[in-house]
Amino acid sequence: MAQYDVIIIGAGPGGYVSAIRCAQLGLKTACVEGRETLGGTCLNVGCIPSKALLHATHQLHEAEHNFATMGLKGKSPSVDWDQMKAYKQDVVNSNTGGIEFLFKKNKVDWIKGYGSIPEAGKVKVGDEVHEAKNIIVATGSVPASLPGLEIDNEKGIIVDSTGALDLPKVPKKMVVVGAGVIGLEMGSVYARLGAEVTVVEFLDTITPTMDGEVQKNLQKILKKQGMNFILGAAVQGAETTKTKAKLTYKLKKDDSEHQLDADVVLVATGRRAFTDGLGLKELGVEMTERGVVKTDGHWATNVKGVYAIGDAIDGPMLAHKAEDEGMAVAEVIAGKAGHVNYDVIPSVIYTHPEVAAVGKTEEELKKEGRAYKVGKFSFMGNARAKAVFAAEGFVKIITDKETDRILGCSIIGPAAGDLIHEVCVTMEYGGSAEDLALTCHAHPTFSEAVREAALACGDGPIHM
Ligand code: NAI
Repeated sequence: MAQYDVIIIGAGPGGYVSAIRCAQLGLKTACVEGRETLGGTCLNVGCIPSKALLHATHQLHEAEHNFATMGLKGKSPSVDWDQMKAYKQDVVNSNTGGIEFLFKKNKVDWIKGYGSIPEAGKVKVGDEVHEAKNIIVATGSVPASLPGLEIDNEKGIIVDSTGALDLPKVPKKMVVVGAGVIGLEMGSVYARLGAEVTVVEFLDTITPTMDGEVQKNLQKILKKQGMNFILGAAVQGAETTKTKAKLTYKLKKDDSEHQLDADVVLVATGRRAFTDGLGLKELGVEMTERGVVKTDGHWATNVKGVYAIGDAIDGPMLAHKAEDEGMAVAEVIAGKAGHVNYDVIPSVIYTHPEVAAVGKTEEELKKEGRAYKVGKFSFMGNARAKAVFAAEGFVKIITDKETDRILGCSIIGPAAGDLIHEVCVTMEYGGSAEDLALTCHAHPTFSEAVREAALACGDGPIHM
């Protein structure tokens, strides 16, 4: 029986990052993973493969819409869907293989199989029991189901995000249930591939947690790109034949019932913590009714030596939030001061244009009754964005009215997911919009729009 300082259950972004950090801090570490490859949902069937498909289909969009304008003439490329999926899989393989290499490099043992915790200090995998002074639950999440919609990824008609990455062919008509991150990203992929995509959303807005102006702008842009939206609609269920589905929904405003035909229905209505089969209940670990593990400020559960991180605990279900917690809990176990600043966790939607946000939205500040200032700058005033057909969108920075300290930022526009990080760093240092505005930004870059929004919080932007 092997003895470890730490055993981590789950090798997603939370678990594998934690394992590497534990090993770097001198702890004898193993990571239990039942999938054939490391990396969890994110690398295998989430963030990474979806980004490959978004990239490929964006190239197609560019060829179809902008090449001729730039003097690049000729037939636009045709789609070889099987090749596109093979490219996506290559991207996945190189990333999951990379984690295997990092495990070897850092001397992290990969225990293959699904683990459970029969008692504190022990992890059972198959017939073997391994001992560990500390156990970290990093088992992530799975798609939440919706009553009346039975997911069958094999059949490929009613699918979740995993099924949507691997459809046998591009559907003619696709209905997406849920206008959240997955719905809009995967909806974009198939809309660019020529599918007629209709998004059905329960609320009256898309992307419920984003800034209101961003929501409206994004919906307008996606509509222009060919996506249809039915908002304020409660999905009742769907009937399927061998090849099609008929989805029924009720409009909340008048209770009227409607139907939509589709070749594929993608259910993207959120995810739930995956903590089944670990034996946590029997162990006495406190959880919510929905299986979310309760932890203290240092990711410790109520059972000594058992910790939990990532999607299995409270908070936004984001790979980078899990990674941060993975590193921090490793440091806590090693006797150091692990910390995560939950006020500065960016979120990104990889549509085109991208959407990114950090900190508070204007709506949240209004609700809190806080005095704030807004500085906004449109990408129409950014030379680089105009040169690359990406002038839609804006940067919006919100600061404390008294101190000018940045409280939040929303960006819709080119490379928003990268641009947001200069605001994150400024916020980490407790910086003001003036700090950002006084920082020299290279010309011509998209990042100048961030600086201009910061200038707009003070005496005004230059290029607007
Ligand atoms: P989500 O929480 O982002 O969006 C779900 C949407 O479905 C919401 O707008 C909700 O109002 C709607 N909805 C719920 N029930 C409904 C119903 N019965 N009928 C119609 N609409 C309904 O969840 P999503 O997109 O499934 O993503 C799951 C998780 O994965 C999220 O926490 C997300 O942050 C994460 N994720 C993050 C990505 C990123 O960072 N780029 C990419 C993909 C997923």
